Amino acid sequence: MQKGQQAILDRDSLSHDSSVAPELLAWYDRERRELPWRAASSVKQDPYKVWLSEIMLQQTTVKAVTPRYDTFLRRWPDVTSLARAELGEVLAAWAGLGYYARARNLHACARAVAGELGGAFPESEKDLRKLPGIGAYTAAAIAAIAFGKRATPVDGNIERVVARLFAVATPLPTAKPEIKALAERLTPAERAGDFAQGLMDLGATICTPRSPDCGHCPLGEGCRAEAEGLAEVLPYRATKIARPTRRGVAFVAVRADGAVLLRERPLKGLLGGMLETPSTPWEETAPSDIEDHAPVAAIWDKLPGLVEHTFTHFYLKLLVYRAEVSQGAMAVDAARPEQCRWLKRDELADAALPSVMRKVIAHALDARVKSVAKAKPGARAVARASA
Ligand code: ADE
Repeated sequence: MQKGQQAILDRDSLSHDSSVAPELLAWYDRERRELPWRAASSVKQDPYKVWLSEIMLQQTTVKAVTPRYDTFLRRWPDVTSLARAELGEVLAAWAGLGYYARARNLHACARAVAGELGGAFPESEKDLRKLPGIGAYTAAAIAAIAFGKRATPVDGNIERVVARLFAVATPLPTAKPEIKALAERLTPAERAGDFAQGLMDLGATICTPRSPDCGHCPLGEGCRAEAEGLAEVLPYRATKIARPTRRGVAFVAVRADGAVLLRERPLKGLLGGMLETPSTPWEETAPSDIEDHAPVAAIWDKLPGLVEHTFTHFYLKLLVYRAEVSQGAMAVDAARPEQCRWLKRDELADAALPSVMRKVIAHALDARVKSVAKAKPGARAVARASA
């Protein structure tokens, strides 16, 4: 079909002469975003770069991923070097990106590829899915982008574009299989990777969630949602279950030299293997046995305010206690003393600290600066600089 002759998409009569792929690929060739993991269109993609970027991009925006991807690539330029790294180093380099199971699986996957697979990523979706951290979406993305297979990854952007193209009225998440099937039917045999990335770019720049710029859409003429005036409201979403709130107390012990006491979380579970300040468990009711969880015998000050953080499945509200402890203070965290360690102030930046724990430490150290400033007018700037 020629440009300007797009028929409104109809799922029942959709056939291979649909103009979606040619129009989208032509648009992608003109308008694609230059992203560090994308090779020039004539150059073969490096599967390691595709895999690394796709793992990072799960649940994280392109903007947040881009600088971190560059750092990873500089430090671990190939799968063998990443496989040789210690898990702790990878977790520390990942800190702040969230969803830390991805970093643990990234490391396990690198070891599997560099080890049993002799350094080569498998090419088929089926074999890719056998690797740690590679689910249906990522397997399809790697197969299509790195190996040119006809595969259909469906991320949030693609989901929205396809739901609009066909005016899918079923709310998400129920609509997922329906949208996936429609996306598969649009996927061309050639350049499936560019097609997927074209849909992603279209979703990120034109077919945006709230104010789609339908006037500039290369697929606008064929879009059923646009024709029916539904582009801004689709896809529909089932009302979300409210997130519960969990509460806890975090203990920030600060040694005379400024070092902070941290503890490694168990490998399995939320924030697995990351560092935290010792804390009570996080539960729906506030803890009643706070003192029993203090990691060091000391005078603990309860700090004003709360540290709040949003996880996928719950909100967290942490009360923070802080103590100044002597240089020789020992952690008495009876449950897991061997997991505790003191980290100097200049070691914190590169430590495997998740965002919530960075907030806790900042809250405690900031409160300390404020109390110094209150006690000694004029000392604030000096105290801040040394904090
Ligand atoms: N999101 C997930 N994968 C992506 C890619 N390859 N390009 C842009 N955004 C993405």
